[in-house]
Amino acid sequence: MLFEVSPQNKVTIKHITYTCIVRSEITTVHYYKNLQNWMNGSVLSPLAKCLPQLLNENFHTTRWGDLPLWLDCLDNLPNIVGHPINLDSEVQIGNASQLVIPRDEFQKILMKLHPWRKGPFSLFGIEIDSEWRSNLKWDRIADHIHSLENRLVLDVGCGNGYQCWRMLGAGAERVIGIDPSVKFVCQFLALKHFTEDNLPIDVLPIGIQDLPTNLHAFDSVFSMGVLYHRKSPLEHLQQLYNLLRPGGQIVLETLIVEGSNRYSIVPQGRYAKMRNVWFIPSVKTLISWLSRVGFIGVRLVDVSITSNGEQRKTNWMRYQSLEDFIMTDGSGRTLEGYPPPTRGVFIAEVPSQRSK
Ligand SMILES: C[S@@+](CC[C@H](N)C(=O)[O-])C[C@H]1O[C@@H](n2cnc3c(N)ncnc32)[C@H](O)[C@@H]1O
Repeated sequence: MLFEVSPQNKVTIKHITYTCIVRSEITTVHYYKNLQNWMNGSVLSPLAKCLPQLLNENFHTTRWGDLPLWLDCLDNLPNIVGHPINLDSEVQIGNASQLVIPRDEFQKILMKLHPWRKGPFSLFGIEIDSEWRSNLKWDRIADHIHSLENRLVLDVGCGNGYQCWRMLGAGAERVIGIDPSVKFVCQFLALKHFTEDNLPIDVLPIGIQDLPTNLHAFDSVFSMGVLYHRKSPLEHLQQLYNLLRPGGQIVLETLIVEGSNRYSIVPQGRYAKMRNVWFIPSVKTLISWLSRVGFIGVRLVDVSITSNGEQRKTNWMRYQSLEDFIMTDGSGRTLEGYPPPTRGVFIAEVPSQRSK
């Protein structure tokens, strides 16, 4: 075990840190070998060129001190073959009778990747009851989007990739998720461990700013729960636009507030205890932003107020959750006095003849 080391033993710690850096590089190459091969010579060849360096920078102990613990967890997963994978109505891999190690041992390994914020996942009979019931979000969008059959799909800010699995289940030819938070990427890799190496689904430990600009490559791009974390929302929308091929579709899910055109709030300090929330626009404002960067056919397809049934504390996410961020007076307002957290889903297309 890499980290059962006494803190007094400085020489060993130095050695182990070095070992882990090398090991994370080896692991990275291993996990993305198939994607890298596929990207060479594809519309994503510009990404293929810069990916090795990005992986080495982001999937690294200097950025994520606990990375060796997470890699250790991935190393300790059992090898099981010949099990079913169901991605149609849920994300279910294998069943309880196929688990080759004791159930509580398996659960302990997975729990080392706590907190599980997105899910649920059913893994060899272990039900990972995540903080968010992300299946509800998928249900709200699935009927409104272009069929994903044979499409190249990007999910920006995908967390541990729950929605990526659902996109693959919906027929996508290949799904690439990106998220700079490496613990979430390791959660994805824990699930991917139990699938064929060449299953066309990957989650990369990078942010949208790391992608080559003007790829014009993806058939569908999803940005869900990301826009309000960006300091410059218009720049984010422009980046999404430039990632899509002519005629491609954007699916944007974000926090919204009631208000007229041009209205948006910029929370002072925190919003529902989150520090990094910048712009929450009205529906009309967001529609005008999307149109301004060039999208056509912009439409709002769903509005929902987040409930305690959708976001809550569970055994798999033991920190505070929605009920701790909302006033107790029944108004539904955030602790800071902002309107109840409400999310809208917007869909739009890049014109088939892209303007320069
Ligand atoms: C609220 S979560 C949304 C997760 C998922 N898309 C969903 O809708 O359930 C926002 C995610 O965006 C990721 N994120 C933050 N900055 C990002 C960036 N610059 N590029 C891509 N993703 C980012 C975070 O790590 C986090 O996992």
